[in-house]
Amino acid sequence: MMSILTIALCITFITSTTFNLYQICNCSQLIFQYDCLSAGLVCNWDYDNNECYDKPCSDIYYQTACLQQPQRCYWSRGCYNFTQCGDLVYTSSFYSECHGYNYYCPEFQPPDCIRVYSIQNCSSITNPNTCNYYQSMEGICIWTGIIGQGCTLAQSCAQFFNNGTRSCPQKYCYYSQDKFETCAPKQCSNYLEEIQCAQGIQTFGPYLKNIVGCYWNSEQNVCQEYAPSQMNHANCYPYSRGTYHWSNTDEKKGNCVPCSQQLLIISIILTILI
Ligand SMILES: *[C@@H]1O[C@H](CO)[C@@H](O)[C@H](O)[C@H]1NC(C)=O
Ligand SMILES: *[C@@H]1O[C@H](CO)[C@@H](O)[C@H](O)[C@H]1NC(C)=O
Ligand SMILES: *[C@@H]1O[C@H](CO)[C@@H](O)[C@H](O)[C@H]1NC(C)=O
Ligand SMILES: *[C@@H]1O[C@H](CO)[C@@H](O)[C@H](O)[C@H]1NC(C)=O
Repeated sequence: MMSILTIALCITFITSTTFNLYQICNCSQLIFQYDCLSAGLVCNWDYDNNECYDKPCSDIYYQTACLQQPQRCYWSRGCYNFTQCGDLVYTSSFYSECHGYNYYCPEFQPPDCIRVYSIQNCSSITNPNTCNYYQSMEGICIWTGIIGQGCTLAQSCAQFFNNGTRSCPQKYCYYSQDKFETCAPKQCSNYLEEIQCAQGIQTFGPYLKNIVGCYWNSEQNVCQEYAPSQMNHANCYPYSRGTYHWSNTDEKKGNCVPCSQQLLIISIILTILI
């Protein structure tokens, strides 16, 4: 029992916290008023009943905000009610970025954006142009050119920066020219500005569970890795990409907990065991 617990704790402390964009907080989960007000573009605070409720999709005016409520809204030159990918209204710009309409409908398959479950696996892609940077469920694909394993899951930044391809995808990796040219995984400390820091680090995958959290340490003016247990009432929700919240209505009580039920139970068990 003890060793299982030790392993569980080590995993908790050593690995980075990865945000799961499938499990964005509902407005009703933001019981701490400050969190609800931080989510003011998508939620409203009811001052009479002290609770947070959904702003109607039609009152959400920014694409980035609309995309933060993928369970109920989608973007198409305005924010609309979403129930399924088939509802997405066709516009001429449709072809380029299906995930710019709703995270759950990321791939374009003429004439529609299709739901995540229909995405291809890397190994089933035979065309190099489709393969490179294809967002499969398991992660980003890369064309290796090696016979028998043409299109595979990308594993490292160095893989993109080899003799064949000298590319360093800035979204996932950090290019440095210090002594040697290198392409290495991005770290929170690579971000020098608060706004970039809040975005976290996009990793290769899996799809929608691929953001390592970062937060801005305003005392030292540096960007650091997000550790839920170290977050306070003020930085828990705003730096979580909408996936963690403060668990109490009182800032002096409570913890920074994930909005998804499953992780919540694990963290409660860990808290009890500690
Ligand atoms: C959040 O809202 C969605 C859509 O209404 C619902 O399916 C889901 O169960 C809610 N999640 C929680 C944790 O309340
Ligand atoms: C959108 O959904 C909300 C909440 O379910 C509902 O009240 C509203 O009437 C819907 N709007 C449209 C245009 O269907
Ligand atoms: C893709 O891979 C996953 C796990 O490797 C597997 O469960 C799934 O069935 C595969 N899907 C397709 C379309 O091949
Ligand atoms: C890159 O090219 C150099 C020289 O041509 C070769 O020695 C090296 O093995 C190559 N590395 C890879 C990873 O292919």
